[in-house]
Amino acid sequence: MAKVTIDGHSIEVADGTTILQAARMIGGDIVPPTMCYYSKLKTSGGYCRTCIVKVTKGSEKDPRPMPKPVASCRTTVMDGMEVVNITSPEVLEARRGVVEFLLINHPLDCPICDQAGECHLQDLGYEHGLAKTRYDFPRRTFNTIDLGPYIKMHMTRCIMCFRCVKTADQITDYRVHGMLNRGDASEISTYIQKAIDNDFSGNIIDVCPVGALTDRTFRFKSRVWFTKPMDAHRNCTKCSGKVALWLKGNDVLRVTGRKDKWGEVEEFICNECRFEKKNVSDWIIEGPRHIDRHSVISANHYESLAQLKLDIGKQQKALSTKK
Ligand code: SF4
Ligand code: FES
Repeated sequence: MAKVTIDGHSIEVADGTTILQAARMIGGDIVPPTMCYYSKLKTSGGYCRTCIVKVTKGSEKDPRPMPKPVASCRTTVMDGMEVVNITSPEVLEARRGVVEFLLINHPLDCPICDQAGECHLQDLGYEHGLAKTRYDFPRRTFNTIDLGPYIKMHMTRCIMCFRCVKTADQITDYRVHGMLNRGDASEISTYIQKAIDNDFSGNIIDVCPVGALTDRTFRFKSRVWFTKPMDAHRNCTKCSGKVALWLKGNDVLRVTGRKDKWGEVEEFICNECRFEKKNVSDWIIEGPRHIDRHSVISANHYESLAQLKLDIGKQQKALSTKK
């Protein structure tokens, strides 16, 4: 076991735990933001640097501080380690720099982007970004590409987090897309636009932290904050069948995996559940899904409205039986 202190909060964790995992165990504002780490994907993390923290004491045995900020998703704790995140102006300044780099080529098309309201980069830019860009050069742009019948790729919005590549590598039978070229010429490509048509390919939409990979069956149908997420399930032979349905009235606008408060899916779901079951009657509805994220998507308090509706219904019933 190792004892680690993050922003003054101490916790004992198993050896091999990363600083980020320890911070998530503590919870609250001290948890570093992540754009490329994804706990359900092996070897994710280490690309975006948004999760940087400062190690002010290496360990009990060797208390020297680490000379530079480190990626908390890739740095394992040592016994006696002390870490600062939001209590360090230096870390916050460095994170601002990282966000500025992530936004250099990212278009500000949130008003028409399907990811708006649940976009991690939008939240990060809001919390750490500058109001103006200092970048004078032309931004790189790409045409949109259809990745098979269900997925649309907006390369211009991609931040090169590698999550979709790892998802395709680790949970589908074969991968037909990847990162081409290096540096500012890098791009996610299916190489001659080969269709991604295997049973679990839709999960790359869920893991994408921005609006680079979008669901063609949901595009431009609604802003996410106007929809009502519901937990639902069905008997599925390919996946657990446990999903979140995003409803407008009784219309199922989209189906996604159930995401936790870190924005990561609890379980990956198959394409049949995601793209082909768009009727409420296809599903057993469990109830409203609680969205626990600092994002616009959490703004609609429909859960309490549902309760209110239930209470009013009960009162009306009680009144009518009294008459
Ligand atoms: S398309 Fe999305 S998931 Fe894939 S690398 Fe780009 S930002 Fe990451
Ligand atoms: S989340 Fe740690 S480097 Fe991207």
